[in-house]
Amino acid sequence: MKRTHQCGLLRSEHVDQEVTLCGWVNSYRDHGNLVFVDLRDRSGLVQIVFDPEYNSQSHLQSRTLRCEWVITCRGRVRPRGQGLENPKLPTGQIEVIVDWMELLNTAKTPPFDTDTAAQVNEELRLSYRYIDLRRRSMQDRLRVRHRTAKITRDYFDEQGFWEIETPMLGKSTPEGARDFLVPSRLYKGMFYALPQSPQLFKQILMVSGCERYFQIVRCFRDEDPRADRQAEFTQIDVEMSFVDAEDVMTVNERLIARIFKEILDVDVSLPILRMTYAQAMDEYGIDRPDLRFEMKLKDLSDIAKASAFKVFTSVVEKGGVVKGLCAPGGAKFSRSDIEKTLTDFVADFGAKGLSWFKIEPNQSGQGLELKSNLAKFFTPAQQQEILARFHAGPDDLILMVADTREAANKALAPLRVRLGKELGLVREGEYRFTWVVDFPLFEWNENEKRFDSLHHPFTSPVPEDLGKLDSDPAHIRSQAYDLVVNGSEIGGGSIRIHDPKVQAKVFDLLKITQKQAQERFGFFLRALEYGAPPHGGIAFGLDRLVMLLTKTENIRDVIAFPKTQRGQCLLTEAPSEVDASQLEELNLRVQKHLHQVEKEREL
Ligand code: AMO
Repeated sequence: MKRTHQCGLLRSEHVDQEVTLCGWVNSYRDHGNLVFVDLRDRSGLVQIVFDPEYNSQSHLQSRTLRCEWVITCRGRVRPRGQGLENPKLPTGQIEVIVDWMELLNTAKTPPFDTDTAAQVNEELRLSYRYIDLRRRSMQDRLRVRHRTAKITRDYFDEQGFWEIETPMLGKSTPEGARDFLVPSRLYKGMFYALPQSPQLFKQILMVSGCERYFQIVRCFRDEDPRADRQAEFTQIDVEMSFVDAEDVMTVNERLIARIFKEILDVDVSLPILRMTYAQAMDEYGIDRPDLRFEMKLKDLSDIAKASAFKVFTSVVEKGGVVKGLCAPGGAKFSRSDIEKTLTDFVADFGAKGLSWFKIEPNQSGQGLELKSNLAKFFTPAQQQEILARFHAGPDDLILMVADTREAANKALAPLRVRLGKELGLVREGEYRFTWVVDFPLFEWNENEKRFDSLHHPFTSPVPEDLGKLDSDPAHIRSQAYDLVVNGSEIGGGSIRIHDPKVQAKVFDLLKITQKQAQERFGFFLRALEYGAPPHGGIAFGLDRLVMLLTKTENIRDVIAFPKTQRGQCLLTEAPSEVDASQLEELNLRVQKHLHQVEKEREL
């Protein structure tokens, strides 16, 4: 080995030891007679000193050094001396006085400084990702990701799971997103699909008698990337035989608890709360509630219906709802904050309007009343009912949306999260977990006039609801469960259908014909006929988990080489055009696209 120690691990106990270090020049200060360099490796920084009195040759060499040059040096560890310690650095008590150094490599001036890179535009950081990844915060995230994967592997191994790889070149699976396709050279005109998840393979592994499977696996979905979504992402994928939903949740919540304990020293109290889908939608308007703050939604339809406010009464008469939330201290918002900023915000989520009341002490000073141009449509008794429903206090702000239940929830859920953050209600630093259970099996797709699976078509109904497959499919509950932390869905799974007759019925309701089912997943349906055990599983989004563990809201921060919002890898410049010969070999012809035409015009 070229080195004896890592820079960031040197401490007072190493004083007087001779050490050989390797690393990058993080910074240097040339004081004429003394040159100080902060030498950096993966473990951190240490100050090394070049003193002409100690070794004149290495001192001369040191004066030529520049940031990010790579060196190795040998020297003696010594205390920094009284008053010269740097309490901000773990190595701040000591320094290394150098008597020999060798330049291993020079470096061009980096396009940005690793210490200030956080302020640099992300595109530049992604183009020079190797420099970006040298930053402490990025290295910490990579380490946490590695640790999470390691804990996961150890845990599942202890529990008798086998890690089994499944193909990357496969057939399209029905996860619901668009597939990435790979043309086949040997079968011209035919395509593989990259897996959206190993769903069908892991189920087939259960039919194969593997009983307990897991895999840390790359998945591909050709969707537009978002802050917490990448087209190429990683799952911790799990499947188990002879289990019910509780068994799967129990085994997997223990994994999550272990990861949070080992990485953050956070105790996740087990069992994790189970909340029904219906409760989540009623109280939070969304199936991934952020439980770090209260501010639950309330249904006011009964009071609204009896009021004199036409907009409300007519919505309720048509079967809609009036739902709202009460923002503590929200009365400080100005009328334009509410009627412009917040109303525009909910409009982005489809709301046609946002009604409001400020809560103020009434004239007698004894009680509270509602203040807004709507208040006159509500009798004093109705106003008191509204106040009571929200347990509203002075200076609170009630915001309401009148619409179909779905539309009201869709607008109020993000409004709740926004106000929770803006009003400082979110208890930062807390992790609030919940399983969401009892999802409906289907949701009605009005455009296509058919049902869609809320999870995927292989999700099993709860046994008591099997009879409704013919009579009342809209009210069948599924044996699905999602794990939600602080408003982020980090995992989801279900008990699967293992009875081919039930599977055929579900396809029927999804309007997948027998012929289509055979074409798309005939191989899988056939496997179900050869002794499929009852089974179920789950998949966690590893990237999302690591985002939580490293407290970042940007998924790209936890992926070494991510794609941009526009799906590009700026480091390698993928996607890119390919040679005509490659296309020919694949028997493909590419039509000119707008961007190519524009490029040609520029030339
Ligand atoms: P699902 O589609 O819910 O289930 O995915 C499981 C988990 O994967 C994460 N995830 C993503 N993370 C980053 N970018 C994306 N584009 C992305 N899409 C999903 C989420 C999600 O909870 N086969 C089923 C699982 C099962 O039933 O066992 C599946 O893939 O954290």
